[in-house]
Amino acid sequence: MRVSSKCIWVDDMLTVNQLNQYYGGSHILRDVGLDAPARQCTVVLGRNGVGKSTLMKCLMGVLPAASGSIAFGGHDISAMPPHARVRLGMAYVPQGREIFSQLSVEENLRVGLAARSDGAREIPGTLFEMFPVLKKMLRRRGGDLSGGQQQQLAIGRALCTGPKLLILDEPTEGIQPNIVHDIGDAILHLIHEQNMAVLLVEQKLAFARRVAQRFCIMEKGRTVAAGPMDDLDDRLIGQYLAV
Ligand SMILES: Nc1ncnc2c1ncn2[C@@H]1O[C@H](COP(=O)(O)OP(=O)(O)O)[C@@H](O)[C@H]1O
Ligand SMILES: [Mg+2]
Repeated sequence: MRVSSKCIWVDDMLTVNQLNQYYGGSHILRDVGLDAPARQCTVVLGRNGVGKSTLMKCLMGVLPAASGSIAFGGHDISAMPPHARVRLGMAYVPQGREIFSQLSVEENLRVGLAARSDGAREIPGTLFEMFPVLKKMLRRRGGDLSGGQQQQLAIGRALCTGPKLLILDEPTEGIQPNIVHDIGDAILHLIHEQNMAVLLVEQKLAFARRVAQRFCIMEKGRTVAAGPMDDLDDRLIGQYLAV
């Protein structure tokens, strides 16, 4: 696959320190620390309800964090609204995807293009190499796609913003195995060929092991373990991930 010529960044990465967030009186994120380097996929693991999705929303600015810092590519983005974070090169596919079901596939992708800061108006060709089904279905309504196709569309729309960091919240949830495999290939392509950082929330360990180089485990709103994938051993899995 072609490597985009604009991908020349070296150090762009996300660094989170001491992040706290509350829903009403409940303390949901507790002094969370995390980073996501370029050219790697970092997977955030943890049981249901530990705060993974809340963390992703705070990183994107969809939810304000109560305290702590978030830096991206050398900028302190803690107080920035989501659209400013998108312009800096952050993209986010929320859990449950949230495509526009009344718009066509092409219109959904153009929503992503419209958010770009560089004025590009062409849907990147590499997108259709990763997810050929989107090219075949450009005129279809988003709502008429299968769940797996909608997930590919949601990722495609995020990629149309031209990101340096892609945040994916449980992209394989409830999706058929062949599409899960294609999404895995896409992540590997993005980190290796497009120098991107990918931050992935995932419950499927086999998928995490295939695509990620680094992990971080959350438990009750805290980050309790992190390291290279090889350090994710049976003890950690038994303690924090087994149900
Ligand atoms: N909008 C909300 N209002 C109140 N509590 C919430 C809301 N969203 C999530 N929570 C609670 O915050 C905690 C963390 O949720 P979430 O971040 O979705 O966890 P995860 O993604 O790890 O499953 C859970 O206890 C959940 O019930
Ligand atoms: Mg979640």
